[in-house]
Amino acid sequence: MDFSLTEEHIMIRDAARDFAQTELLPGVIERDNKQEFPQELVRKMGALGFMGIMVAPEYGGSGMDTISYVLAMEELSKIDASASVIVSVNNSLVCYGLQSYASEAQKQKYLTKLATGEYVGAFCLSEPEAGSDATSQATTAEDKGDHYLLNGTKNWITSGGRADVYLVMAQTDREKGHKGINAFIVEKGAEGFHVGPKEDKLGIRGSDTHTLQFNDVKVPKENRIGADGFGFTFAMKTLSGGRIGIAAQALGIAAGGYELALKYSKERKAFGTEICNHQAIAFKLADMYTEIEAARMLVMKAAWDKDNGHNYDMSSAMAKLYASKVAMEQTIEAVQIHGGNGFVKDYHVERLMRDAKITQIYEGTSEIQKIVISRGLIRG
Ligand code: CAA
Ligand code: FAD
Repeated sequence: MDFSLTEEHIMIRDAARDFAQTELLPGVIERDNKQEFPQELVRKMGALGFMGIMVAPEYGGSGMDTISYVLAMEELSKIDASASVIVSVNNSLVCYGLQSYASEAQKQKYLTKLATGEYVGAFCLSEPEAGSDATSQATTAEDKGDHYLLNGTKNWITSGGRADVYLVMAQTDREKGHKGINAFIVEKGAEGFHVGPKEDKLGIRGSDTHTLQFNDVKVPKENRIGADGFGFTFAMKTLSGGRIGIAAQALGIAAGGYELALKYSKERKAFGTEICNHQAIAFKLADMYTEIEAARMLVMKAAWDKDNGHNYDMSSAMAKLYASKVAMEQTIEAVQIHGGNGFVKDYHVERLMRDAKITQIYEGTSEIQKIVISRGLIRG
C-alpha cells in the first residue's frame, strides 16, 4: 500500500495552499460579514485550473484525478469554505455530471466554459418538499415535442444568483416515479426563470444560496441530459462524487481549525507556560490530529476508489459522514483552545465552526449517508 503523493499531487496541493493564503485569506472575514460572493476570486481560481480540476484538457480542464481534487479542496477549505463550495459544486456536480453523461454538443457548448471558470455552474435538485426525499420532485417538465416546459421551485441552490448554467432535475412523467425524472441544462436569463432573495445563513456566508422559480421556462430538447428518464440516476451518480468533494471540504475545515489551535497553543501563556504544556490542551491536540488523520484516510480511500474504477457510493458516503462529524467536533475544540479569542471573528476559528455545520447537511444529511451505507451493507 502506497500512501505517497505524486509530484503532480504535491504541485496542486501547494498551488491551492498558496492561493488560499495569499488570495482567499485577506478578505475572508469581510466576505463572511457582508455575505459577499467572491466573484473576482472565482475568476482567478478558473485561471489557475481549480474550477475544472478533473475535466479532460480537450474540454478546457486540468485533466487531474480525484486525489488532486481532494487535495485542492482541503487546502481551499482550510481558509475559506464559502469559496470551496463554489469550487466543489462546479467541479464534482456540474462539470463531472456533464463530462460523464452529456452529449458531445452539450460538452462543447457548456463544459468548455465551466471547466475554465468562464461560466459558474449550479446543481438544482432540492425543493421545498423534496430535500432528503429527492424522488418526490414537484417541479415538472412537460414534453412539448421540440422543447420542454419547466414549472416549479428549487430551493437552497448554491451559486443560485451567480451561475450561468443550471442543471435542473424535474418530473416529466409522474406515473413512472423516479424513472420519469429528467435532468436539464438551463441557461441564466431564460424567460420565466426567476432568482429569489439570497438566504441569510449561519455559515458559508460568502457563498450564494437562493430559491429559484421556473414559470413556463422553455428548455430545448437538446438540453436534456441523457436518455428520457435518466435524471434521477444522473443526480444520484453525480452526488456520489460530489460527496467526496464535501468530505474534502469538511476535512479542510477541521484541519484549518487544528492548525490554528496548534499555533495558538504554542504562543498563549497561562500559569507561567504555553498552554500546549498543559496536558488537557496537549491531549485535545492529540485527539484532534488523530481524528483528522482518520477522516483523511476515508476521504482519500473514496477518491482512490473513484480513480481506480471501483464503486464509490459507500466509500463517499462514509467519507462525508465521518469527515463532517470530525469537522463539527474539532472546530468546537479549536474554539475552546482559543479561549475568549475563539469567540471573536479575528481569530477565524468561530467562522470555521459555523462553516462546519453545513457539511453535515448538504449533499445528503448525515442520516441520509447512513441510509446509503446501511443499504449497501445489507444488499452486500
Ligand atoms: N447510483 C445510481 N442509481 C442510484 C443510486 C446511485 N448512487 N442511488 C440510488 N439509485 C437508484 C436506485 O437504484 C433506485 O433505482 P431502481 O428503482 O431502478 O432500483 C432509484 O435510484 C431510487 O433509489 P431508492 O429506492 O434508494 O430511493 P429513495 O427514495 O429510498 O432515496 C436516497 C434514496 C439515497 C435517500 C436519495 O433520495 C438521496 O440521496 N437523498 C439525498 C438528496 C441529496 O443528497 N441532495 C443533495 C442536493 S445537492 C446539494 O446539496 C449541493 C450542495 O449543497 C452544495
Ligand atoms: P429534510 O429532508 O426535511 O430533513 C430534515 C431532517 O430529517 C434531517 O435531519 C434529515 O436527515 C432527517 N431525515 C429526513 N428523512 C429521513 C429518513 N428517511 N431517515 C432519517 N432521517 C431523515 N440542494 C441542491 O439541490 N443544490 C444545491 O446547490 C444546494 N446547496 C445548499 C446549500 C445550503 C447552504 C443548504 C442549507 C442546502 C443546500 N442544498 C442544495 C439543499 C440540501 O441538499 C438539503 O438541505 C438537504 O439535502 C436536506 O434536505 P432538507 O433541508 O429538505 O431536510
